[in-house]
Amino acid sequence: MLRRSLLMLSHSDTVKHAVSSMPVSSGIVARFVAGESVDHAVEATSQLVREGLLVSLDHLGEDTRDVHQAQATVEAYLLLLERLAAAGLTRGAEVSVKLSAVGQALPGDGERIALEHARKIAQAASNAGTTVTLDMEDHTTIDSTLSILRELRQDFPSAGAVLQSYLRRCEADCRDLACAGSRVRLCKGAYTAPESVAYQDKSEVDLSYVRCLKALMAGQGYPMVATHDPRLIKIAGSLATRNDRAPGSYEYQLLFGVRPEEQKRLAAAGERVRIYVPYGDEWYGYLMRRLAERPANVAFFARSVLTKS
Ligand code: FDA
Repeated sequence: MLRRSLLMLSHSDTVKHAVSSMPVSSGIVARFVAGESVDHAVEATSQLVREGLLVSLDHLGEDTRDVHQAQATVEAYLLLLERLAAAGLTRGAEVSVKLSAVGQALPGDGERIALEHARKIAQAASNAGTTVTLDMEDHTTIDSTLSILRELRQDFPSAGAVLQSYLRRCEADCRDLACAGSRVRLCKGAYTAPESVAYQDKSEVDLSYVRCLKALMAGQGYPMVATHDPRLIKIAGSLATRNDRAPGSYEYQLLFGVRPEEQKRLAAAGERVRIYVPYGDEWYGYLMRRLAERPANVAFFARSVLTKS
């Protein structure tokens, strides 16, 4: 119930306006977001890479209804990639892109614009010696996102996708994408969707995650296990062993600020671990999804609002 309400609030302009006036440095925002500027993003990446972790950077923003805003997002990614390359960080850092931030939601030919923009970012990533992963958003965008991924992978085969186990279609999508060279990040899913397309019960989402993971681990692709769930992390390790996967043929992914001790523990155990690092001033929607995932975060959030200067 709380989760659904918070996810609904993530679309409220009034609440967004009030909350977005909080400084990014305030407790709850700083916990989940690296900062607002590209300098903050590079600094956070540099720190994580020094700790033996890999990084995927997300320039925050989504549901863009303005073509100029979409172009500005592309420019932000190009600058980020230039800065990461200059700092010698592109061996350890890739970028994550939300297609709705680069034009997918624009009326008319949004899908074509998003593909063009994704190509520009993927080309810049390739020039910098790294790659891109397309985040997955609301369930209504999945066919469009997978179609853009197919196009993009013709020129940039290392472009990755995200699949969400709360969706009933996820297992079939995992089988389709478990082919050689295919990078698939498997997560539970951070949005709401009706029962007709999505499991509503947490245990069903978790069981679906295991079935999807089995398909990815048994396949020819590169699974990216994106979860903080201790049980699923353990199962992923067992499945990797059962499928004779060599170290480096899969990786774990966790969010910036979530279970940092587990991030370090996995890396110390010799696993490849990538941290998803969001930055930028459009942090509202992202923050609301993080609050929705864990009721304890809401109390932390309330304290941040009450103490805001
Ligand atoms: P679950 O929510 O069951 O949490 C398991 C445990 O992890 C909790 O008990 C708690 O200890 C800890 N935890 C989880 N979330 C927390 C939080 N916000 N704060 C504090 N502790 C927390 N989703 C999506 O729809 N599209 C996408 O593209 C992505 N991309 C993505 C990338 C990466 C690297 C990750 C890790 C996750 C995503 N997600 C995502 C989000 C994902 O769908 C999901 O909402 C969160 O990962 C939470 O689910 P868990 O699997 O962690 O399990």
